Amino acid sequence: MKLAIVGCGSRHKMFRDSVMEDYGSKHEIVAVCDNNPARLRLAAEAASRPGTNGVASYLADEFDTLLAEQKPDTVVVTTPDFLHSDYIVRAFEAGCDVICEKPMTIDLDRLKLIVDAQRASGRKVTVTFNYRYSPARTQIKELLASGTIGDITAVDFRWYLDRVHGADYFRRWHRQKTNSGGLLVHKSTHHFDLLNWWLGSVPEKVFASGQRAFYRPETAVELGLEGRGARCATCPVAAKCDFELDMDADPALRSLYREAEAEDGYFRDLCVFDAEIGIEDTMQAHIRYASGATANYTLVAYAPWEGLEIKFQGTKGELTHRHVEVHGVFGGSREHAKDAVTTELHLAGQAPQVLDVPLGKGMHGGADPVMLGYIFDPEAMPEDSYNRASDHIAGAYSILTGIAANMSIDSGSPVEIPTMLKSRGIDLGETV
Ligand SMILES: NC(=O)c1ccc[n+]([C@@H]2O[C@H](COP(=O)([O-])OP(=O)(O)OC[C@H]3O[C@@H](n4cnc5c(N)ncnc54)[C@H](O)[C@@H]3O)[C@@H](O)[C@H]2O)c1
Repeated sequence: MKLAIVGCGSRHKMFRDSVMEDYGSKHEIVAVCDNNPARLRLAAEAASRPGTNGVASYLADEFDTLLAEQKPDTVVVTTPDFLHSDYIVRAFEAGCDVICEKPMTIDLDRLKLIVDAQRASGRKVTVTFNYRYSPARTQIKELLASGTIGDITAVDFRWYLDRVHGADYFRRWHRQKTNSGGLLVHKSTHHFDLLNWWLGSVPEKVFASGQRAFYRPETAVELGLEGRGARCATCPVAAKCDFELDMDADPALRSLYREAEAEDGYFRDLCVFDAEIGIEDTMQAHIRYASGATANYTLVAYAPWEGLEIKFQGTKGELTHRHVEVHGVFGGSREHAKDAVTTELHLAGQAPQVLDVPLGKGMHGGADPVMLGYIFDPEAMPEDSYNRASDHIAGAYSILTGIAANMSIDSGSPVEIPTMLKSRGIDLGETV
């Protein structure tokens, strides 16, 4: 298939390298597109095979020309989140399928555009929920779907981002809800997708609270960072700040962002303590599912460790999963903990059993290479009995919990998702 990639920042590399290194005999990158000429140049160079004329490159305002001239079969969308819907819709209208990074989009207006364009065009968007593909999470799906703990009634789910990974969402475009939907959409889309998939159900009602408790000016003062600057590169107190992101010291950050910033003013190292940040760092939600199950969910972006804890209660017992993760995210400092995944099954009336957890190799707990195999060479992969491929409906339900949670934070009241969808004329058809 002929692929075009739009949005040539850090994430597009995973798709580009996978096609070039592992699936080059089946697929070809025919074009790259970005609004930033410097990043576009880097992407075009990296996507070009030696001895060829290279891949075609287009600036963002030439995207329709790209579609007309290159006629890709599939457009890979790896732009900031608020732009996904526009590229998805234009790709559909040109007869292309889409592979889109999460979240599929960030709000109800944009969701409606995608759903309507999908229905009108009959094209397909695959939302790349890589977390579904990690062997440890697939094992949970298998246990729950096979009824091992009976009907699932209640879930406690906590996800902690440490001060390295968590801080990174407060430095750049993610820090405003108009760009990312806030962490309840941008980040939790992964977590809510896992819940929907694990439970085999969809969210119906959400009540949420959220606040920015840590990444704010008061914390900088408490840390002795008075006189801080607007960004790390020019900050007078950077040398004593644990949150400094030194882009000049890292060749990848330097070439991708620092040397490209004159073109579009995209600063990758804005101060994480800025007053104007618009997203929460501390969020809790209570969710009721169509199946009758309920879930309590916590997301914190400044924890002293990184990972997740989840406990499923069922009519026959309990399943507990804990994963202490290690990420290679730029900036700050951290103690590197050993990667540790545990899953414990405790059936009523029996002793708890610690299960053997399969671990994968590669990014995101081994998830990314498996997902890329299903995307780029499905015939070579075993049949996917776990239903891991995600379409626009799964993409929609993964963001609806977060969108409803944002509304609930604003109003202080619970939000009914079917009512919310109906009021905006969004028809997702019959779901579980
Ligand atoms: N699944 C995962 O684990 C995972 C991990 C990282 C990022 N992501 C997702 O990937 C996407 C990209 O994230 P990133 O970290 O690479 O961001 P980034 O800022 O590094 O890259 C975004 C790119 O889009 C370009 N861009 C901005 N406006 C544009 C426009 N109008 N048209 C075309 N290009 C434009 C920017 O110049 C930049 O090159 C996001 O949606 C993010 O949520 C997913």
